[in-house]
Amino acid sequence: MNIIFGNNASAQLESLMVGYDNIFILTDENISKIYSSMLASLPYKKIIIPAGEENKNIDTVNFIWNRLLEGNASRDSLLLNLGGGTISDIGGFAASCFKRGIDFINVPTTLLAMVDASIGGKNGINFNNYKNQIGTFAEAESVIINPQFLKTLNERDIKSGLAEMMKYAFIADDSFLDLDSDNYLSYIEKAATIKNDVVNMDFKESGLRKMLNFGHTVGHALESYYLDKENYLTHGEAVALGMYSALYLSVKYCGLDSQWLFFYEMWFKGNLNILNLKDFDVESIFSYISHDKKNKNGSPRFVLISAPEKPQIDVEVSVDDIKEAIFILKDKFSE
Ligand SMILES: NC(=O)c1ccc[n+]([C@@H]2O[C@H](COP(=O)([O-])OP(=O)(O)OC[C@H]3O[C@@H](n4cnc5c(N)ncnc54)[C@H](O)[C@@H]3O)[C@@H](O)[C@H]2O)c1
Repeated sequence: MNIIFGNNASAQLESLMVGYDNIFILTDENISKIYSSMLASLPYKKIIIPAGEENKNIDTVNFIWNRLLEGNASRDSLLLNLGGGTISDIGGFAASCFKRGIDFINVPTTLLAMVDASIGGKNGINFNNYKNQIGTFAEAESVIINPQFLKTLNERDIKSGLAEMMKYAFIADDSFLDLDSDNYLSYIEKAATIKNDVVNMDFKESGLRKMLNFGHTVGHALESYYLDKENYLTHGEAVALGMYSALYLSVKYCGLDSQWLFFYEMWFKGNLNILNLKDFDVESIFSYISHDKKNKNGSPRFVLISAPEKPQIDVEVSVDDIKEAIFILKDKFSE
């Protein structure tokens, strides 16, 4: 996949958009307000959807397909997804199914989407409150990463992206162990490159790519549980918590030195918002894990590590140990 990076990356967009009979920009209500004059200056049709994970569903996809039809989109049309991971997930899905697939370009505007979600061709929506149950594998023609967009992103979403970036320290590149809320800009290109390289080696996630799911088994369960609650968790926050559980299980199952669990707890408390998990019960979170896409023959599989940069995929973990890991997480992150 073609990734263009830098503060002037957006300038190259025009040359990528030639040859299409119709161009549509998909974005959410927040971005359309913040970047209203930039959007108004672009001679393309706009599709604006409500912001937030709770709208990453089939009703919103229907809305997008209707706008594409009304705007006479054909197989030679282009959808430009301008936004965070919610926009690239839902826009990529809508584009990859519309008329059996039209081209799309991702322009990520959140840290999390720049370093992860906009790259790699996994598109999808939530279904019945379960994360990403319906989706496709289809790659964007290009991903344009312009860190200038981060100037308007709020602190909570910056920290959410930071958590997903820290994942790379454990699975792929231990130089990310020095990552923090002051230096993250210098890590964006490296993180995007790691994601792209892993995807290029295993696009359909039959092996290696699974390592990118580190922290996501418990993380997705937490994110699903909180999806319709007022004290919702962002995707990055949920993954950050899920990584604590994954490290806890890594000590137990893969011989990881427990100093890494301590290191991560300190990093979390120093760089992310303190989250209060006192309202969840272990059984509810476990019931989401039992529906995880990564399960095999009904039994949950985890990505764990034996050391930083040494991921172990498809590790079978006992139900009792999963529940213990969730209990410990609740204990650590409840006031
Ligand atoms: N497909 C993948 O490989 C993959 C990987 C990781 C995460 N994801 C998905 O990504 C989603 C989370 O993405 P996210 O964290 O980017 O959330 P998001 O897209 O919901 O954006 C978070 C918030 O930031 C706002 N926003 C976006 N850009 C902004 C900007 N530049 N300035 C001000 N506000 C801005 C949005 O309107 C929204 O309110 C989840 O649905 C997750 O499942 C997908």
